[in-house]
Amino acid sequence: MKRPFFVTIGIICLVIISYAFTGIKDPGYKNLKVLPKNITEQQMDSVMNHFSVSLNVECGFCHVHNVEKDEWDMASDKKKHKLVAREMMTMTNKLNDQYFPYSGKAANLSTALTVTCYTCHNGQKEPVTKPVKVPEQQQHLTDTTKRNG
Ligand code: HEC
Ligand code: HEC
Repeated sequence: MKRPFFVTIGIICLVIISYAFTGIKDPGYKNLKVLPKNITEQQMDSVMNHFSVSLNVECGFCHVHNVEKDEWDMASDKKKHKLVAREMMTMTNKLNDQYFPYSGKAANLSTALTVTCYTCHNGQKEPVTKPVKVPEQQQHLTDTTKRNG
């Protein structure tokens, strides 16, 4: 009767210990050039999800995936899109620092940035540069009675 009790306690202790270790575990990122080296796993997930949602793409748009082995190499810089994304990160940081200093320089990852990937990309790989012409808009512009209002 006593044994199962101790076994249970042992398992509970193991679970608690492993949780404690995962809490302070260094995620071990190998190739960060823009993001802070001490970024937590949770922050990284949130940044990467923001990238994916902003461009409406999957991780594989920027990261190398070996389909046969089903292995990801997130640290690899082989994909051109990842390199472009890094330049975009630097540009976005600069925009915030130079033009929105209240949110830029002083900001860390937990602060909302004013200009984000989504500001321009809006769920598209390549942001649109001019408004889509819909017949209603054209009509609106040629309708003089509506010009002033
Ligand atoms: C638009 C491109 C893009 C998308 C989409 C993207 N990433 Fe990234 N990812 C990057 C860039 C750029 C870096 C490097 C950042 C740096 O240099 O500071 C990076 C770095 C990482 C790293 C750190 C790798 C290391 O060891 O250095 C991980 C992990 C990661 N991404 C996971 C993901 C996951 C998971 C997804 C999908 C949910 C994802 N990424 C989607 C561009 C992207
Ligand atoms: C100020 C507007 C702006 C912001 C902010 C911005 N981008 Fe971009 N991005 C662009 C434009 C414009 C293009 C298209 C460039 C071209 O066609 O040569 C582009 C292209 C890209 C591409 C290449 C897409 C392709 O199909 O080749 C990637 C990847 C990308 N951006 C990632 C990001 C990420 C990640 C962020 C946030 C860190 C970001 N961008 C923020 C304007 C922006």
